[in-house]
Parts: sequence; C-alpha cells; structure tokens
Amino acid sequence: MIDSTAMLIEVIVKKKELRGLDVSFVRNTLEEYFRKNLAVRREFESKAFNEKGAVTKIIVKDVRALLRRVYGLFRTQGIVTKENVETYFSSKYAKRALKELLSLHHSTLERLPFYEQMYQEIFRRTGEPKTILDLGCGLNPLSLPLMGLSEVRYLAYDISKQELAVLDYFFSRVRQQYRGIDASARILDIGDVEAVRHLMSSDVCFMFKVTDHLDRGKGHKKTEDILKVVPARFVVMSFATKTMSGKEMTAPRRGWVEYLCNRLGYSFEVLKFDGEIVYVVRKG
Ligand SMILES: C[S@@+](CC[C@H](N)C(=O)[O-])C[C@H]1O[C@@H](n2cnc3c(N)ncnc32)[C@H](O)[C@@H]1O
Repeated sequence: MIDSTAMLIEVIVKKKELRGLDVSFVRNTLEEYFRKNLAVRREFESKAFNEKGAVTKIIVKDVRALLRRVYGLFRTQGIVTKENVETYFSSKYAKRALKELLSLHHSTLERLPFYEQMYQEIFRRTGEPKTILDLGCGLNPLSLPLMGLSEVRYLAYDISKQELAVLDYFFSRVRQQYRGIDASARILDIGDVEAVRHLMSSDVCFMFKVTDHLDRGKGHKKTEDILKVVPARFVVMSFATKTMSGKEMTAPRRGWVEYLCNRLGYSFEVLKFDGEIVYVVRKG
C-alpha cells in the first residue's frame, strides 16, 4: 500500500505547476481526500497500482484540483530566479528592482502600494520586533528590506520547495548587506500543529492571507489551533478584501476572527489597506 501511494503521489506532482510542492503536504492532502472518498479509496486499494487505471485518473484529477486551490493560484505571475534577486542587490535602482521582484506573486504585487506603511502600522502596535515568524510566507520574505528593521531574526515557512532556493539566496545576500539581519526560509506544512508549537519563540508571527488555505472552508478550527500554539506575542493575520476578479467584498471584516479572539481573551486591532484587511492580535 505504501508503494502504491508513493507512486500515486509521483503521478500527481508530474504536472509542472505542482512540481515544487513539499511531498508530505501532497501526502496529507491525498489522505484527507481518501478520508472523504472512502469508496474511491477502497477501489484504489483493491487493485495493483495502474497509472492509466480509471480510479487513478479520478484521484489524480481531484487531488490536483485541491492542490491547485491552495498552491497554484498564486504563482501565475512568473518565477523568481536568483538572477532577479541579484539584479536587486546590484542595481542602482534597488527599490525599483525590489518592486519588480515583489510583483511576481499575487499577494506581494497587490501590497506594493502600501507595503512600507503596512509594516510601520503593524510595528507601531507590536513594538519593533527582534524575532519574526512568517507562516505560509510565499514571496513575502522578499519584502524584508521594506520592514525598516536593522536587527531581526526572521524565519519563514511555506510548502513550496520551488521558491526556497531563491529565498535562501536572497537571505544570504541580505546577510551580507544588512549585518543585523539573520533570516532563513524552511519547508513546513503549517497545518502541523505540533511542529508549529515548537517553532522559535517570537515577538511577531505573520500569517498573511494564509488561514483560508489552512481551514479550507471547514470552519476555523485549524486556525484556532495554530493561533493558540504558535509561540509568538503577536499574530498578524491578513485577508484579501477583493475577489480574484478585483471587486471589493461587501463585508471585508472577518467576524469569526473577532469572535475567536474575544473567546480566547486575545485583544486585537484592525488595519485596513486597499485590498487587504489586517488583524494585529495580541496573545501575551
Ligand atoms: C495567498 S499566498 C500568501 C503568501 C504570503 N503570506 C503573502 O501574503 O504574501 C498563500 C501561501 O500559503 C502557502 N500555504 C498554503 N497552505 C500551506 C500550508 N499548509 N503550510 C505552509 N504554507 C502553506 C502557499 O504555498 C502560499 O505561498
């Protein structure tokens, strides 16, 4: 059984846009799919693995669709390369080059007009952090130079292996240029509550536009668990207030976040930007 699951995963990630995904994340998604589709699972397990078999095709199609929903959508703008990163560090027009880098991912692109203001407003509430966790980071770590911090330890996590090499390279250049900054990126499925519990103790934890992917439309238990265990004094969660087609949502505030914080006894402040709402949650 272990073998056929591994073979199935190999087939699932054959698609180019899913190749950079962490295998354990794909495995968890597949297991969750099997839990909900017991008949499909039984059918799959009753036969020897056949890549071209009807049941394999159904599973591959469905699981790819699930993975694309959490992962694929955001990486349609282009791929960041080490060369792009190098352009930033060696360019006379560094700020412009940085903005070009950040325009390669939906979330960071949308934030370009207010990135610096957003960080200033967040840090006005949290105090200047010395330690930061960034969960489901995407390309947000590339905005580190916009945070205005001269001394910080910054650890970023995502399920994308594809961007890890670029982020690693970016951080190595950051370390050369900014002596007080120690930053690194790692692979982690942040749905793993126990792993999150054991992360570095931090002043601030960013969870920008990521909780919807954790909860996957099934209530907010996962976000609640992560919020409770993450070792951070402040957790900063954000949400899009525009739909994918660019329309403003009619009710941009997330009532459930406010209800959850009240229930857990955490105070919060709400910051609004064009297309994004930010909750600065104080745990400690
Ligand atoms: C909408 S993007 C936001 C990226 C970044 N936080 C930002 O706002 O610029 C969502 C990110 O969450 C990551 N993600 C989704 N589920 C995850 C999980 N279970 N563990 C770690 N990262 C996850 C995706 O790979 C993607 O980079």
